[in-house]
Amino acid sequence: MATAELPTLPIDTPQFSADPQPFLEAARAQHPWLARFTQGYAVHGYDAHVDLLADDVNLVPGLGPIVDFYGMRGTLWGRFMEEMVLSATGDLHTRLRASVQHAFTPRRANQVRPMMVGAIGDLLDEWAPKGQFDFAEFAAFFPITVMFGLLGVPLEPIHRIRHAIEGHVATLAIDLAAKPGMLVAWEELWTFADTLIKDREASGESDEESMLDALIAAKNAGQLDDVELRFMVLTVIIAGYDTSKNQLTWTMKLLVDRPEMYARCAEDREYCGKVVNESLRLTGIASPYRAAAQDFTYDGIDFRQGDIVIFGTSLAGRDPAVFGAPLTFDPDRANASRHVALGRGAHICLGQYIAKNQLQEGIHLICQRLRNPRINGEVTWRPFIGAWGLRSLPIAFDAG
Ligand code: HEM
Repeated sequence: MATAELPTLPIDTPQFSADPQPFLEAARAQHPWLARFTQGYAVHGYDAHVDLLADDVNLVPGLGPIVDFYGMRGTLWGRFMEEMVLSATGDLHTRLRASVQHAFTPRRANQVRPMMVGAIGDLLDEWAPKGQFDFAEFAAFFPITVMFGLLGVPLEPIHRIRHAIEGHVATLAIDLAAKPGMLVAWEELWTFADTLIKDREASGESDEESMLDALIAAKNAGQLDDVELRFMVLTVIIAGYDTSKNQLTWTMKLLVDRPEMYARCAEDREYCGKVVNESLRLTGIASPYRAAAQDFTYDGIDFRQGDIVIFGTSLAGRDPAVFGAPLTFDPDRANASRHVALGRGAHICLGQYIAKNQLQEGIHLICQRLRNPRINGEVTWRPFIGAWGLRSLPIAFDAG
């Protein structure tokens, strides 16, 4: 099929965010794995995700076009966008990733479970007595509290850092209106990381539980320079924020709609792990993007250098060739963990074990402490591109 004949997927519209399924089915009827969208190509087939996300020769990440859009080339923010681990390629990416990998192993993610449980328990102590709240707002405090706990740093700046992350992430919408907020946000974020690291280094202390100390040790071992160390601290906080909070909110929506599963989650921690995988399959919030580094052909489609390619990980999770009855939310599904929601290839989510464990522990505690939840307001949606999910999920509940 010529690329001009591909169907169009309106992934940048509110209608698609609210329910992608009708659009996906119409597109799939015309082509099994690929569609066009306003900025380029949108991949929706499972096999194409697996192959193309791992193809870092033909398809490269990189936020250069966004940096240019805001006229920020040569600034520290511009460097962050282009040089952080998520954007880096080749040897730079390998070195950056290797410098921190030991802090993200499955073993490490298991060791910090008690810290996660403590952080979530404290949050619930504060929020559960309210009887009702917007769950999306609650969820915004969840991963950042865990990330601060992992780094081993005081929780006091959480409110302003959370706000600053939102100012920074808003730039992904490619809208000049986001620039003034981004400038303020970036100043806040950089000063936060810089001060944190300088204070920690000056203290002469080191704690083997602290991810911050592990990152400083990587710098001292010559694996990161000073700026890369600060970029890495910020990347970890930013990459784990929108993703985890939106996935948690989506999972909560799926469970509120299924009271029996909700009740089981309160009792059965292992089951919560299955719920997380199935939520990632059906409603994975991430849509990694790439640019074609050169002309190449994949499965009969000719890509041209510079083409933008977006991967809809939750669309791949609905590929009926891999997941039978894909719209059924079934945590006992045998192959749910084959989802691609955490990426594939060299850039596969560095925080994947931390993400899954904190969601599992979080859901288990939430289902115990917020009993009999029901939706009591308007549910609204975030854009599909970037970090999909619910903008608002107002709930009422009985305190458990
Ligand atoms: C449910 C929550 C999460 C989801 C759905 C998610 C998803 C993803 C995906 C799809 C990628 C690959 C992006 C690409 O290929 O361009 C990625 C990369 C990454 N994630 Fe996550 N993530 C989550 C949570 C986290 C957490 C909690 C952390 C930190 C503790 C984290 C840190 C990172 C980092 C540093 C990368 C870049 C890795 C690299 O480029 O080598 N993520 N994530």
